[in-house]
Formats: sequence, structure tokens, C-alpha cells
Amino acid sequence: MRAVVCTAWDGPAGLAARQVPEPTPGPGQVQIALGGSGLNFADILMVSGQYQIKPDLPFIPGFEGAGTVTEVGPGVESVSVGDRVVLFSGIGCFAEKVAADAIVTAPAPDNLTDIEAATFMTAYGTSYHALVDRAGVSEGDTVVVLGAAGGVGVAAVEIAKLLGCRVAAAVSSERKAEFVLERGADVAIRYDREDLRAAIRDFTDGKGADVVYDPVGGSVTETCFRSLRWNGRLLVVGFAAGKIPSLPLNLALLKSASAVGVFWGDFVVRYPRENRANLVQLKEWCEQGLIRPHVDRVFSFDQAPAAMAYLAERQVLGRVCLVP
Ligand SMILES: NC(=O)c1ccc[n+]([C@@H]2O[C@H](COP(=O)([O-])OP(=O)(O)OC[C@H]3O[C@@H](n4cnc5c(N)ncnc54)[C@H](OP(=O)(O)O)[C@@H]3O)[C@@H](O)[C@H]2O)c1
Repeated sequence: MRAVVCTAWDGPAGLAARQVPEPTPGPGQVQIALGGSGLNFADILMVSGQYQIKPDLPFIPGFEGAGTVTEVGPGVESVSVGDRVVLFSGIGCFAEKVAADAIVTAPAPDNLTDIEAATFMTAYGTSYHALVDRAGVSEGDTVVVLGAAGGVGVAAVEIAKLLGCRVAAAVSSERKAEFVLERGADVAIRYDREDLRAAIRDFTDGKGADVVYDPVGGSVTETCFRSLRWNGRLLVVGFAAGKIPSLPLNLALLKSASAVGVFWGDFVVRYPRENRANLVQLKEWCEQGLIRPHVDRVFSFDQAPAAMAYLAERQVLGRVCLVP
């Protein structure tokens, strides 16, 4: 089978598509023929040796995908050959086939193509876990989403709206502003050129935001923490801007505010039953037409470095997908 292989910690430029042996499912695992592999920002970190987990070289990257189960390993009862699934395996998905633990798969939404479904699980799973399990948002809450046209960002906009929140989407271009408004945001904030603090004040009638969803990090994080209201929550999702910010903790005391960590990839492994329940809700919303992944572009395995460059250059609306 064909796969994208990482042979050194050279970042995207070092990736190459080549022939590799098909993986065999071990106990508790299934083999899946993938119809698409979702590209995540964390894939760039992974192949650059900058992610929390550093696999042995060489390895096939790719956190997530979607396809059809072709083989079932010993002890698997929850999934059968022929099932259409989405999966988050953390590794191995930039390939025609992957072997993954059955527990990290879930039924694919019926109304999505494999290419759309390949980008479903991480973005919606993360944002649902963040907003519902970690921030406990309620109807009427004001939610500010940073990097709102990106993968997890736009999923957070859609989910927060479905939960009855008012949503301000912060983005860095006019094209992205139009996109997030189409996706349901109440207002778009151009945080590349507007005063973000003043914009959040206007959006919340001077009260401050209940929740900030932050996959960006860098200097905007402290601005946002200062823009929370009493009992506000900053969801620490990621650091796409590259810099891990620090916060003066007196700000937490003064507003009874919290910085709340979100690590969905670990939640999937530690709480598989709870994650599956979240995915049941997300699948239902998807099949009702209430949420849907937006696939901006599809790249071939040979174009994996170009796909990663497109993501790193902040061009993507929603998600990009890889196919053989
Ligand atoms: N904690 C978790 O469980 C979890 C799960 C999934 C992802 N993540 C993390 O969340 C972050 C976003 O992931 P994603 O897959 O949604 O990425 P993405 O689609 O590339 O979105 C990231 C957004 O960040 C903004 N950004 C600001 N500065 C940037 C820079 N220097 N380079 C690139 N983007 C920049 C961009 O929006 P603007 O151009 O509008 O600013 C971009 O749309 C990553 O750090 C990822 O590791 C965390």
C-alpha cells in the first residue's frame, strides 16, 4: 500500500510517499481502508519533532481518518468488517490502510463522504469536549473563539451556536471573516487589525466574555484573559501562533476566572465511553444537517508537504484532507 513516511525530524519537507507493507490488526484492533485522512496542525508539530509524543523513526504520520473496516483483530466485538468509521489513532492515517484500536473508532455520519468524515472527529470532538465537558457553557453565554476559521475554531463556532451561546469569531482576514459569519458566528472580529479587548467589550456590552476558546496562544491569550467576566473561563486548546503564553495569576483571583486545559487526544484514551457519547451527539447533529465539516482543499499523498505549508501559512478555511 502507499503511505506518507516520516524518516527524520526535518518537518514537512522531509516527508515522502512510498510503498509500505499493509498493517495487521493486533488484539483489540481493526484494519481500516481509508477513504481520506484529515490533516491537523498537530501533524506539522509531530513530523517536526515538536509534539508531546515522539514516535520512533521511521513512522507514518496522520492523526485521523475515515473509511471502511476490512479486518477485525482478536477480541473485537464493537466493530465489524464493512462498518464505515471515523477514527483518531494519533499516528498512521496518512496511508491507504491503518490498524488502530477499535476503541478509538466511531461510526461515521451517514451523510458525509469519506473525505468530509476524515476531518470530522478531531475538530468536533475537541470543541465539544472543550465547550461542554471543560467549560460547561450554558444558553446565553458569550463565547469568543480565536483562530475561528481554522479546524477546531470553526467547529467551536458551530457547536457554541447550537448550544445557544452568542459567538464572536476572531480571524485574521476578510475572507475568513465572511466564512465564520456564514458558519453562524454572531460577529467577526479582525484581531489582526482591531483592538481585541475593545471588540470583546463591545460584543459583551462591557461585561466581558463568559468563555474564550483559544487554539492560538501567543500575545492574544493574556488580552483575552483580561477580557473575561466574573467566573469566566479561558479554554487552553493550542498554540498555533508558536508561543506558549504566561498569565499573571492575580487576574484569575480578581475575576474568579479560570484557565481550563483541554487535551482531547488524552480524553479519548482515558475516557473512551464519555468520548463515544459525545460523538453520538455530534453524529446526530451532523446527520440532522446542523454541523458539517468544510473541506477547503484535498491534496494527494505526494503533496503532503504542500498541504502542510498551506495550513502553516494560515490559508485554510476549515480543514484540508489527504488522499492516496
Ligand atoms: N488541545 C487539544 O485537544 C487539541 C485538539 C486539536 C487541536 N489542538 C491544537 O489547536 C491548534 C489549532 O489546530 P487546528 O488543527 O485547528 O489548526 P488550524 O486549522 O491551522 O487553525 C489554527 C488557526 O490559528 C490561527 N493562527 C494564529 N497564528 C498562527 C500561526 N502563526 N500559524 C498558524 N496559524 C495561526 C489561524 O487563524 P487566523 O489566521 O485567523 O489567526 C488558524 O486558522 C493547534 O495548536 C493544535 O495543536 C489542540
